Amino acid sequence: MNRSISQENPPVRAPFGELFTHHMVTAGWTAESGWAPLRLRPFDSLPMSPAMVGLHYSQVVFEGLKAYRRDHGVIEVFRPTDHAARLNRSAQRLAMPPLPEDKFLTAIDLLVAADQECLSADPGLSLYLRPLLYASEANLALRPAREYTFVLIAFVTGGFFSDKPSPVTVWVNRDYPRAAPGGTGGVKFAGNYAPSYLAQEKAQQAGCHQVVWLDPMERRWVEELGGMNLFFVRGSGPGAQLITPPHTGTLLPGITRDSVMRLAPGLGYQVREEPVSVDQWRSECREGTITETFACGTAAVVTPVGTVRDGEKTWQVGTGAAGAVTLAMRDALTSVHDGRAPAPEGWLRTVPPAGAVAGQA
Ligand code: PLP
Ligand code: COI
Repeated sequence: MNRSISQENPPVRAPFGELFTHHMVTAGWTAESGWAPLRLRPFDSLPMSPAMVGLHYSQVVFEGLKAYRRDHGVIEVFRPTDHAARLNRSAQRLAMPPLPEDKFLTAIDLLVAADQECLSADPGLSLYLRPLLYASEANLALRPAREYTFVLIAFVTGGFFSDKPSPVTVWVNRDYPRAAPGGTGGVKFAGNYAPSYLAQEKAQQAGCHQVVWLDPMERRWVEELGGMNLFFVRGSGPGAQLITPPHTGTLLPGITRDSVMRLAPGLGYQVREEPVSVDQWRSECREGTITETFACGTAAVVTPVGTVRDGEKTWQVGTGAAGAVTLAMRDALTSVHDGRAPAPEGWLRTVPPAGAVAGQA
């Protein structure tokens, strides 16, 4: 069912991704004419042929980014140009046409300006923006489509797990690799997600919240967690080290991961990209070398990992509670989000007031 906030009276706080704002922005692309102008329209179903390429052959990529309301009412979008660039890297991997950066940004301006009243001044809330690019041609030939649709929708969210960073229990998945070398794991391809559901179900059956993805070749190196990147903390206090798995091509280069890497030195933390094996994770937690582990992503923000389950083995990370470095990193990031701290150059885009957005036709 299509649920938008306008149908709820009064607006309710809904689970992640269930209740959408009043509008959406769309644009079509054809091989003959390129991109058509963006259209701001009421949130509604989209026309779809039963022979649509995206449905049959999964030529579909997407993004996820957030907008935050400031005390004085202004809305800022977090790192939209980086998300635009990643959408185009994903599109290129799937043999799809790139969406010009200015169209991506204007689409956000149009939607956020139109639906800004959906986002209250509650600092725990943000507007989650979901840009989607899919092959909309009706044709079952096995070749890249000649027609595409871009659509941007939004919903109000707190956190993916909860507004408070309670620690999650994670399940090491040895059976179902998320990605393959040379495959699509390094981009935000829609087809990466449905194959993860079986592992996610197994994790839940084992009493865990999320799946730890290992490298697909040796199934030994920790890569990421569900729809999040991972950091391991060695040591404590200023001078602690943050270790994150390097880009292997099979994990997603997260924009939150990059933000953490760039903000950490300001808190005195050193950051290193270094492979960490599951065995190392367990033994270093036991010895106290790894003191904390946290996951990060647009939806998850910064979320502590409290307990790890690997088959019959279970271990606690640190005390099992949210650690001081994790909480400091979360605070540094959310301070940039909500304006308590200045943002590095180019990270925030202020949405122009409704009516002042150029580019719609
Ligand atoms: N890893 C995967 C598989 C994801 O789906 C996401 C979410 O987008 C991330 C990591 C985190 O990326 P970002 O910080 O850009 O949201
Ligand atoms: C995000 O963090 O934005 C994601 O895309 C993760 C998931 C909801 C797909």
